[in-house]
Amino acid sequence: MGFLEIKNITKRFGNQTVLNNISAEIERGELVCILGPSGCGKTTLLRIIAGLETADSGQIFIDGKDSTFLPPAKRNFGIVFQSYALFPNMTVFENIMFGLRQKKRMNYDEREEKVLEVLNLVDLIDHKDKYPRELSGGQQQRTALARAVALSPVYLLLDEPLSALDAKVRARLRAEIRALQRKLGITTIMVTHDQEEALTMADRIIVMNNAVVEQSGKPQEIYNNPATQFVAAFVGTMNFYGAGEKRGIRPEKIKIVDWTEPHDTTALVQDVEFKGAFTRVHGILPERTSICIDVPSDHAGSMVLGPDVTLFLRLPAEHCISYPEYVEL
Ligand SMILES: Nc1ncnc2c1ncn2[C@@H]1O[C@H](COP(=O)(O)OP(=O)(O)OP(=O)(O)O)[C@@H](O)[C@H]1O
Ligand SMILES: [Mg+2]
Repeated sequence: MGFLEIKNITKRFGNQTVLNNISAEIERGELVCILGPSGCGKTTLLRIIAGLETADSGQIFIDGKDSTFLPPAKRNFGIVFQSYALFPNMTVFENIMFGLRQKKRMNYDEREEKVLEVLNLVDLIDHKDKYPRELSGGQQQRTALARAVALSPVYLLLDEPLSALDAKVRARLRAEIRALQRKLGITTIMVTHDQEEALTMADRIIVMNNAVVEQSGKPQEIYNNPATQFVAAFVGTMNFYGAGEKRGIRPEKIKIVDWTEPHDTTALVQDVEFKGAFTRVHGILPERTSICIDVPSDHAGSMVLGPDVTLFLRLPAEHCISYPEYVEL
């Protein structure tokens, strides 16, 4: 049995079903990402796990105990929201100290020691006397993280903690959060709508859409074997092709071969897009569906790839996934 068990959770707001019979298990020490588009119910699910919202039906088990109706204060979690939610009139040190006020059994010295310890963990010790407005976005989010971790919570809930940050800082903080999570071995649920974030950070991803779980699995499983058309299209890029029953293949799995070699189909090049490490070739199949093919840029440089060039393609069977229930969107 998982450390956190979400069992058949259903939640409605008015006549809108926001969570429809959601079940999931999170193991001790795991970092699980809940991934899905805006409005699919991620924050609502996180709030139910925290006890900040009640489900209409279903149960939440924490460490084997039915905690469905346990008040938030008794659940022993740390939480970080999308917006930093630091107190603007308190320094970094005071913000974290304030979070510790609920630890009634700690005296001042013990609290101070704890604050300094977590400030070291997130590498903010030199900034402890600054106010939030004097910090960068990344530093503010690390302060929020330190405040959550200072309480020595049993599990950590992160709701899009990186979404307000620019790409470079995001990438760095991803790695930092991951390292901190591993070091503390703390069970963590992180909500995100960013598939790259989920793929790089998670031990396991729960993909949600329209109030239901579409798929749950390791990042590699989700990427290499997306169970549904939605997952295939939402995580990474997927080409859907074929008349009648649709099949899917990732752009980097398609092989461009010489016309003398065996091939499965041809594509007429429309456009070539340089993306840095790889080059994305947009083409049209004889059946008139568009397709994109990723080629390492080092190879692309030595290929003839302009518009109206015909490419001969191999679609290796082991990388083609069938989607019998495909619907045109
Ligand atoms: N308190 C509320 N009252 C009414 N409707 C709500 C309430 N909270 C959320 N909703 C609705 O429930 C749906 C799911 O909201 P939720 O915040 O869980 O989505 P989300 O997946 O976190 O989206 P985002 O990625 O944009 O944060 C939305 O359609 C939202 O409008
Ligand atoms: Mg949300």
